[in-house]
Amino acid sequence: MQLDIRLTADRGTPEALALPVFPEQEGQFDEELTAFLEQAEHKGKAGETAALPRPLGTPRKTYLIGVGEGGEAGWRAFGAALTRAASRETSVTVGLPAGLTTAELSGLAEGLRLAAYRFRAVPLSEDKAPKLAEVILAGEADEQAVQAGIVTAEVTLAARDWVNTHSGEKTPEWLAEQFRAAAEAVGGVDVKIWEPGQLADEGFGGILAVGGGSTRGPRLVQLTWAPEGATQHVVLVGKGITFDTGGISIKPAAAMLLMRKDMGGAAAVAAAVLGAARLKLPVKITVLTPLAENAVSESAFRPGDIVTHWGGGTTEILNTDAEGRVVLADALAYAAANLSPDYLIDLATLTGAQNVSLGKKTAALFSDAPDLAKALTEAGEQVGERMWQLPLPADYVDDLRSDVADWVNSTEVGAGTVMAALYLREYAGAARDRWAHLDMSSVAWTEGADKEFSKGATGWGTRMLIRWLSTLA
Ligand code: BES
Ligand code: MN
Ligand code: ZN
Repeated sequence: MQLDIRLTADRGTPEALALPVFPEQEGQFDEELTAFLEQAEHKGKAGETAALPRPLGTPRKTYLIGVGEGGEAGWRAFGAALTRAASRETSVTVGLPAGLTTAELSGLAEGLRLAAYRFRAVPLSEDKAPKLAEVILAGEADEQAVQAGIVTAEVTLAARDWVNTHSGEKTPEWLAEQFRAAAEAVGGVDVKIWEPGQLADEGFGGILAVGGGSTRGPRLVQLTWAPEGATQHVVLVGKGITFDTGGISIKPAAAMLLMRKDMGGAAAVAAAVLGAARLKLPVKITVLTPLAENAVSESAFRPGDIVTHWGGGTTEILNTDAEGRVVLADALAYAAANLSPDYLIDLATLTGAQNVSLGKKTAALFSDAPDLAKALTEAGEQVGERMWQLPLPADYVDDLRSDVADWVNSTEVGAGTVMAALYLREYAGAARDRWAHLDMSSVAWTEGADKEFSKGATGWGTRMLIRWLSTLA
């Protein structure tokens, strides 16, 4: 169910009320609430929740939810906790304190909407489905800030839907059409889709090789938001493997199970440009998503094959499961040569090793541009999408050289996440000093609900990118 968020100046007499709790703040509440909070040992930590029922009173229930130190993160946690705690209400009114900042209001709206998300291919029965249909924000609040949070949340949820969709449905063509339909619904975003024949005519050998094993052919999608007066051009590239079996270098069953998420990068960059367009950010953005299914069949590419990428670079395939970099190489080379980016950023669920280095809640960042790395890290920090920069050691590059082609797509020297990043940098061409790579393998998915994240796809990267793009404006 879609959660509606409304603003009103007057609180009225709601059935269900939600109030923020600040840590160690005397006199926040009347005697009854103060005593209740003490008995409940509520400390006002961000997202900490208690509900006081008064069966015959009005409000019938008061939700007391911590905002910790406040700020964007505190209010996002408040929103997420409220959505979860009040899922059996139909409507809740939030008593807003005066003076909330723009960031706090948009964070609140994001927390509310993002945590309300459930992906169900088959609808839940009525007794199990969340009932919460609206949250009323009562108080003085900047409506535009709330709207911005809602927009950011909505595009993030689109990304989650795309990632969660099972790969029986999610073919490259299907995903390309989803991107097209979403762009058309927003308006102002140009769409170009390369079909397999066009990919062949123009020399996108990496995308064709990886997609060659599937009857459900590959696509390349370009989405362009070019507002008048924009002075900077950002190119965002996203890995879009709609299912990764590993190909002939096949994955074991357990490692394959969730490989529908292997287009999380593509989903995030597509969602980000839609968000930027809806927010009318005054920066030109081109999104490129190579989409392919890495399948096993007699037409699949093989270990030992040599692939010629767009622009003429070549890769010796040592492992067909290192397919992400092979499709990204085409897109990066194309972007660097044709699109004159001021920034070239790729997002990809690229290596299992990323989870080994950094665990489930931190993505890996690579860049030779310190200012860009810093700005992306800060944007991620603000929205709750953490990343950590890893090195690009120059002397590791030699391990990527092939005897028979320019590069190999897989090595056995350890540092799998680093080696993949070094490979991509070679295809960023003249834009390599303005390039950043985000390996988001572990963070694209979560096994349990946590703050604003619901179980399953996270939409990771969408909010970070929108935040970073808005700083360029
Ligand atoms: N899509 C996987 C990476 C991945 C693993 C993403 C787990 C999310 C969760 C990628 O295509 C892959 O298979 N990478 C290989 C590379 C290796 C063959 C060099 C890997 O990480 O094992
Ligand atoms: Mn793979
Ligand atoms: Zn993959």
